[in-house]
Amino acid sequence: MTGKTAKTIFWLGTLSSAIIFLWLTYDFHQQEPKFAKTDQINDQVVAGKKVWHKYNCNDCHTILGFGGYYAPDMTKAYYRLGENNIISIVMNPELVYKDSFRKMPHLGVTKEEAVNLVVFLKWVGTIENRHWPPQDEKFVKAFRLREANAQKLDKTDIIMGACGGCHSLETLGRKIAGDFNDIAKRISYDKDTLVKYIHDPQSVKPGTAMPPQNVSPETAAIISDFILSLKAGKEVQK
Ligand code: HEC
Ligand code: HEC
Repeated sequence: MTGKTAKTIFWLGTLSSAIIFLWLTYDFHQQEPKFAKTDQINDQVVAGKKVWHKYNCNDCHTILGFGGYYAPDMTKAYYRLGENNIISIVMNPELVYKDSFRKMPHLGVTKEEAVNLVVFLKWVGTIENRHWPPQDEKFVKAFRLREANAQKLDKTDIIMGACGGCHSLETLGRKIAGDFNDIAKRISYDKDTLVKYIHDPQSVKPGTAMPPQNVSPETAAIISDFILSLKAGKEVQK
C-alpha cells in the first residue's frame, strides 16, 4: 500500500464515521420530544425529580438503567404500583416491607414530596424506552386496560396488574406481602368484606400495613371472587 492510499483510507473512514455520528446526534435530538414526551414535563415533574435527587433514591434504585442495582428499577414503577402504593411505600417503607428480607430505609419524605415523586415517576413511565432495560410489560398492559376494559384481561392479568407489585400468585408478581394462595386460606372475610378491605384496609383491619387500592368496584369484585376461589385450593382459570 502506498502512502497515498493509506491517507485516502484514513480520510474516507474518518469523514464517513464523523458524518454518521453527527447525523445520529442530530436525529436523536429531533426525536427526543417524541420519545421522552418532553411536552409533559411540568413544574411538578421537575419538583419530583429534585426530591429524587434530594434523598439519593438512585443510590439503590435505577431509572432507565442508571443508578444502584440493589432495589427495583423505577422506570415503569408507576404502572406496577399506582399512586397510593408509591406514596405509602415512600413514606412508610418499614411498614409495607415489614415482612420482606430486603429493606428500604425510612427517609422522612413528606406527603407533598411523595406526591411530586409520583408525578415524576408517572412521566418517567411514559418515556418510550423501546423495551430497554427490560421491563415487566405485563404490568403496564394490565394497568392501562384494567379500568378501561377489564373484560379484555384474563383474571391473572387483572389480579397481578393490580396487586402483583406486592403480592404473588405462585410464580407471578412479587413476594413481599404474601402469596394469594396462603392469604386465601388464612382469611375468613366474605366477599363484601374483602371488597371493603381492598378499598379501605384500615376499616376492616385497623393498623394494617396495606395501602388502600384504587381499583374500580367491578375490578375489586372480580379480584375478591378470585381470591376466595383459592380457598378451595383450586385455581380458577381465565
Ligand atoms: C438504601 C436503599 C434505598 C433507598 C435510598 C431508596 N430505596 Fe426504595 N426500595 C429499596 C428496596 C430494597 C426496595 C424493595 C424492598 C423489597 O422488595 O422488599 C425498595 C422499593 C421501593 C419502591 C417499590 C418498588 C416496587 O417495584 O415494588 C418504591 C416506589 C421506592 N422504593 C421508591 C423510592 C424512592 C422514591 C426513594 C427516594 C426517596 C427510595 N425508594 C430510596 C431501597 C431503597
Ligand atoms: C404496596 C403493597 C401492596 C399492594 C399493591 C397490595 N397489597 Fe395486599 N397487603 C399488603 C401488605 C403489606 C399486607 C399485610 C398487611 C398486614 O399484615 O397487616 C397485605 C395483606 C393483604 C391481605 C390479607 C389481609 C389479612 O387480613 O390478612 C389481602 C386479602 C390483600 N392484601 C389483598 C390485596 C389485593 C386484592 C390487592 C390488589 C388489589 C393488594 N392486596 C395489593 C401490601 C399490598
